[in-house]
Amino acid sequence: MQGVTVIDHPLIQHKLTLMRDKATSTAGFRTLLREIAHLMCYEVTRDLPLETVAIETPMGPMDAPIIKGKKLVFASILRAGNGLLDGMLDLVPAARVAHVGIYRDHDTLQPVEYYFKAPGELENRLIIVVDPMLATGNSAIAAIDRLKRRGANNLRFLCLLAAPEGIEKFTRVHPDVPIFTTAIDSHLNEKGYIVPGLGDAGDRMYGTK
Ligand code: URA
Repeated sequence: MQGVTVIDHPLIQHKLTLMRDKATSTAGFRTLLREIAHLMCYEVTRDLPLETVAIETPMGPMDAPIIKGKKLVFASILRAGNGLLDGMLDLVPAARVAHVGIYRDHDTLQPVEYYFKAPGELENRLIIVVDPMLATGNSAIAAIDRLKRRGANNLRFLCLLAAPEGIEKFTRVHPDVPIFTTAIDSHLNEKGYIVPGLGDAGDRMYGTK
């Protein structure tokens, strides 16, 4: 699919299967999500530009590579996005963080924003928006609309699972935002859940119902 990268590394696929299993505990689910976030972060940042800085190793001077440009921004769609965010921050601790609080109305499945806080100067920074489930696509689309209104112009969207319906809608509205996922599942059910999916990511992560 155009604009979609499926990261199918065997370690990710193995961990994803454990996450899908309904017998996996809350603690296990959170740990696995964090571990997968490490592996996904590695892939989504693979092409970041580098520049060199002059340093001194114990053996002498060296022009050594570091990541070029302004600090990355990770934007978490609350609350399930925080599970991916934690793992991303393990690898890029200096990243700035935006939080976008969006819930979907259970009847209409439409997104409702209740919180937004983002770093200044979003222009010309790479912004990686994270949410484990790209289901209807409505929350992701709304979060990216909001970030674009604040000046964001270089975005990527990272999710654990995507439904074909969500991908189709998302890429129609935001064709400039590449999607990174670990699997594209079969379909959405009538309640907007991904099938076979893994259930409600937020509930499984935090032990709520
Ligand atoms: N959100 C979830 O947590 N799970 C789904 O299957 C769809 C949306």
